[in-house]
Amino acid sequence: MQDNNLSGQAEKSRLQVRPLKQDDIPRAMELVAAAGWNQTPTDWKRMVNASPQSCFQATLDELLVGTITSLAYGQQLAWIGMMLIAPEYQRQGIGRLLMQHMIEHLRDKNVQSIMLDATPAGEGLYRKLGFQVCSHLRRWRRDKSPAASQIFGDTAADRTELDQDQLTLDKLAFGVDRSFWLSQLAADSWCTQRDKGFGMRRSGRLCDYIGPVISQDHATAESLIIELESTTREIFWDIPAENVHAENLARKLGFSPVRELSRMWLDNYTVPTFPTWQYAICDPATG
Ligand SMILES: CC(C)(COP(=O)(O)OP(=O)(O)OC[C@H]1O[C@@H](n2cnc3c(N)ncnc32)[C@H](O)[C@@H]1OP(=O)(O)O)[C@@H](O)C(=O)NCCC(=O)NCCS
Repeated sequence: MQDNNLSGQAEKSRLQVRPLKQDDIPRAMELVAAAGWNQTPTDWKRMVNASPQSCFQATLDELLVGTITSLAYGQQLAWIGMMLIAPEYQRQGIGRLLMQHMIEHLRDKNVQSIMLDATPAGEGLYRKLGFQVCSHLRRWRRDKSPAASQIFGDTAADRTELDQDQLTLDKLAFGVDRSFWLSQLAADSWCTQRDKGFGMRRSGRLCDYIGPVISQDHATAESLIIELESTTREIFWDIPAENVHAENLARKLGFSPVRELSRMWLDNYTVPTFPTWQYAICDPATG
């Protein structure tokens, strides 16, 4: 049987951190499946295309054993995500190595704030590296719904470019301009907008995913979510815990909470967010 213990110096030298490339996506998907996460190869491709200098892998004897990504929203904020270590290589310091590498990389780029959404498994490690919790999110889930009255699909004809007003609203709600990222998400999503808000839904590995949904008022948010939840597939929806109206709506529409994530930041927290306008986040990997 292979010995995976990396405690010795010689073993550590077999471990390297390198850029994550498009060719590595099939192996990265094995880590996603092992963790039971919902990302698809399209999600990885979008991320690696958008941030080719800031996605990394840990390799052990050339085998990819861990991943980490980050996406910069200008100089103001970088969001870290997709921290995954293959199960048989966990608790051997590889996660810490990847996160330290990413922090150093982002500090070299003079990013003002670094944030992430932590699972309970990651939170302890991130605290040890200096991250602090600023808020919480809950993931809500709804079973398959064969009874959806009208099904909105993901065909090219359904796709929409967001208006400038929506991009301005998003900047107020999220705290920084993420227009370039929203337009890439919209290209792979069912995207819908009203006068005072917009929302998206995309396909995941296990189920559909609602997010982002940004709205200035509850009635608009409700109308957006009712359109977005009209799919026969199971759905995940991540809601900032401060948004009580969104959580009430989730309950009313038959969703149940399935897990909690901690939103964390490092060093300076300079991003003025407005979580009550965020009815769904984009996803934990990008905020
Ligand atoms: C969370 C995760 C990324 C951590 O990666 P990891 O490589 O296991 O992390 P490390 O080994 O660097 O550190 C994890 C713990 O192992 C401990 N550890 C490190 N080296 C060790 C060793 N040789 N022997 C025993 N324990 C060790 C660390 O002190 C740390 O302790 P803590 O959990 O009490 O903080 C990994 O468990 C994972 O992929 N989980 C599933 C997906 C997930 O939840 N990702 C996080 C998303 S935010």
